[in-house]
Amino acid sequence: MAYTLPRGTYDILPQDSYKWQYIQKIFRETAKAYNFKEIVTPIFEKADLFERSVGDTTDIVQKEMYKFSDKKGRSFALRPEGTASVVRSFVQNNLGKFDNNVKLFYIGPMFRYDRPQKGRYRQFYQYGVEYFGNDHPYVDAEVISLGYNFLKKLGLSNFSLEINSIGNKKSSEKYNKVLIEYFTPYYNELCPDCQSRLERNPKRVLDCKVPTCKKIAQDAPSMLQYLDEESSKHFEEVQSYLSLLEIPYVVNPKIVRGLDYYTKTAFEIINNNLGAQNALLGGGRYDGLVKELGGKDVSAIGFAGGFERLIFSMEQENLSFGDLPNPKYYFVAIGEEARKKAIVLINQMRMMGYDVEFLIDKISMKSQMKAANKLGAKYTLILGEDELSKNVVVKKNMETGEQIEIKISKLLEK
Ligand code: HAM
Repeated sequence: MAYTLPRGTYDILPQDSYKWQYIQKIFRETAKAYNFKEIVTPIFEKADLFERSVGDTTDIVQKEMYKFSDKKGRSFALRPEGTASVVRSFVQNNLGKFDNNVKLFYIGPMFRYDRPQKGRYRQFYQYGVEYFGNDHPYVDAEVISLGYNFLKKLGLSNFSLEINSIGNKKSSEKYNKVLIEYFTPYYNELCPDCQSRLERNPKRVLDCKVPTCKKIAQDAPSMLQYLDEESSKHFEEVQSYLSLLEIPYVVNPKIVRGLDYYTKTAFEIINNNLGAQNALLGGGRYDGLVKELGGKDVSAIGFAGGFERLIFSMEQENLSFGDLPNPKYYFVAIGEEARKKAIVLINQMRMMGYDVEFLIDKISMKSQMKAANKLGAKYTLILGEDELSKNVVVKKNMETGEQIEIKISKLLEK
């Protein structure tokens, strides 16, 4: 029996992997332009790290975690997101020791047991950033601008930025009370999940996808009305920095985000052509999490986005993923002696960093030229008996047909 993939996962095939490399390259370049440095954390962590940070009332923790016990009965989970691990590492390694501005980025697979559909997978890849130690509203705008400029650098134009403020802890608690008051008369109409959310985390009700809950939530009071002075000043300043950076945005008070750690600024970048899974990236400030996970009272903000939706959006807009990963040179060697010489030359060229393809099973000139064409090589290097006796190869430009002779010794010069 042939094996197939687990549901909700996929292979990145050789004809597509260059797209992934391209996006990663642009993300790394963008992160570097903002002085963010890469961090790599394990793919699994102690399960309670996520329960504590993402929140035990969220769908991610309640329904979507790949949780397992190891041979000693300890409980672990495949990471459903990157922030909790990065905060864990920040605290464990005391990364804020020498500098209060710590700027980190990551790229890697995340795992959520959700119903697979377009743009939603059980193993998916995120790129993300986390900025620790600075609660200035400019920092929120800088992090948002990194995400925004990254998408622009890829050439995307069909997206929009939506921002909201969840408020500091005080405002958030006040708003929770308002929500409980608002939803309680509808208690019996709410889905069972929302009935328990109402007691444990009423903001989650605003995020429910069940139609009756959605309808009731439509007229719920807006979060923005309940921001205290500090939170609302912070939110206004974030907006003025966004304007200064000429980043267009809309305020959407319905953004609650699916994770519990957020405070103040929350944001998403949406591509409405994507269908139901339309968030290209999402994030926000989480000023209490470092302390909650055993660190000092350090503020933080970040975002993450999924590669799959990004690639899909780029394909929709017919954007380029950089050069195709074709070999630059294809070596054509005719005759036993020339083939032997070619093998040695190709080895030397590859050591020098040239990409050269040579296929040992292609013998005739015709089959070798055909292979060069099929592989999309830019040049063929042709070595026959004649060339061998003159110590040259013929370099043929496959696009123009132009041919020139080059000395073999020249070929091995950089
Ligand atoms: P999130 O909104 O859960 O936030 O995920 C961020 C992005 O990951 C989404 O906007 C989407 O592009 C992608 N994504 C999420 N789930 C899936 C899935 N099942 N399949 C494909 N793509 C998916 C976080 O993960 C936070 N850690 C972001 C953050 C960083 N907040 C602060 N710092």
